[in-house]
Amino acid sequence: MSKFWNSNTLTLKPYVPGEQPKDKTTFIKLNTNENPYPPSPFVMEQIKNFNLGDLRLYPNPEGAKIKGAVSEYYGVSYDEVFVGNGSDEVLALLFKAFFDNNTLIAFPDVTYSFYPVYCSLYGIPYTEVPVNEDFSIDLSSYPKEARGIIFANPNAPTGLYIKVEDIERLLKDRPDTLIIVDEAYVDFGAQSCVPLIKKYDNLLVVQTLSKSRSLAGLRIGFAIGNKDLIEGINRVKNSFNSYPLDTIAQIAAEAAIKDRDYFESVKAKIMKTRDWTMESLKVLGVEVTPSLTNFIFARIPGIPGPIAQVRLKQEGILVRNFNSPRISDWIRITVGTDEDMKAVVEAIKRIMTENA
Ligand SMILES: Cc1ncc(COP(=O)(O)O)c(C=O)c1O
Repeated sequence: MSKFWNSNTLTLKPYVPGEQPKDKTTFIKLNTNENPYPPSPFVMEQIKNFNLGDLRLYPNPEGAKIKGAVSEYYGVSYDEVFVGNGSDEVLALLFKAFFDNNTLIAFPDVTYSFYPVYCSLYGIPYTEVPVNEDFSIDLSSYPKEARGIIFANPNAPTGLYIKVEDIERLLKDRPDTLIIVDEAYVDFGAQSCVPLIKKYDNLLVVQTLSKSRSLAGLRIGFAIGNKDLIEGINRVKNSFNSYPLDTIAQIAAEAAIKDRDYFESVKAKIMKTRDWTMESLKVLGVEVTPSLTNFIFARIPGIPGPIAQVRLKQEGILVRNFNSPRISDWIRITVGTDEDMKAVVEAIKRIMTENA
């Protein structure tokens, strides 16, 4: 603490990211939902051919190439897309653009734990609406006075998915509420809400290239919505940092979005490995939620989440446990390669046998 911290800094409870060990080769790293496969070879080629001398110039301020690739991929217009330095930054900017200390925002009590952090940073009042016992989200129970509702779909860390029809009903019923759907994991088998942005001016969809396109290290995220919403985010971005995405990230992201065949093949591999792992864990008696993501939310009978996390680390496997009362018994395991996941199943089997 320093005497120069202001009253807001003093009260902040920052987000705690998953551990990034110094020597990543020591562990099978399944704690931050990274992709186990490299990005598209086309990305590698673009980076290799990049003229390093061009780094003396500032990057394109709005990530034009990425916006172009996203708008082509989703069939939306250029001015319906906003690009930022990871979806975390996109979320930070849109919380600032649309909410303040007079507007209530609501989100599930079990969801991405960064949402309350943005609220405390900006002084936005928020309410956490309890998810059901099975972790499903009941959208009808959200307070009428909320100016905004945000949730991840599929949700994190539970992996559960809300059908697009149910989200459309919410959009229709609540025209004066901004609905933000964080689709960080949508590519692993769920359906995107993006087509609805043409019909509803109260919808913003946020996505990332960190998971399904293997570019977590380059920090690229985007939002899609009605052009007036996008302009609002741009106003905040241009009052904070005009050049959030570096030149290399921009060419890499464009290449990753354009290489659809590679994207499809990586997604398919991960979904197959996920389904195999879920079945294998169920056979052992481990409880898992029905995931449509690149992670598995699991509860090992008789072994509390924090202990499971430590025991797996001793076995050379990093997973994540959240220090939050409703989910403290659970661990979140990122889907790695087939080999990684065989090691996970074997390790969990050993831990359960020891505990028997
Ligand atoms: C639900 C959700 N949203 C957003 C993010 C942020 O992703 P990034 O900032 O890498 O784009 C994550 C990362 O784990 C996430 O789980």
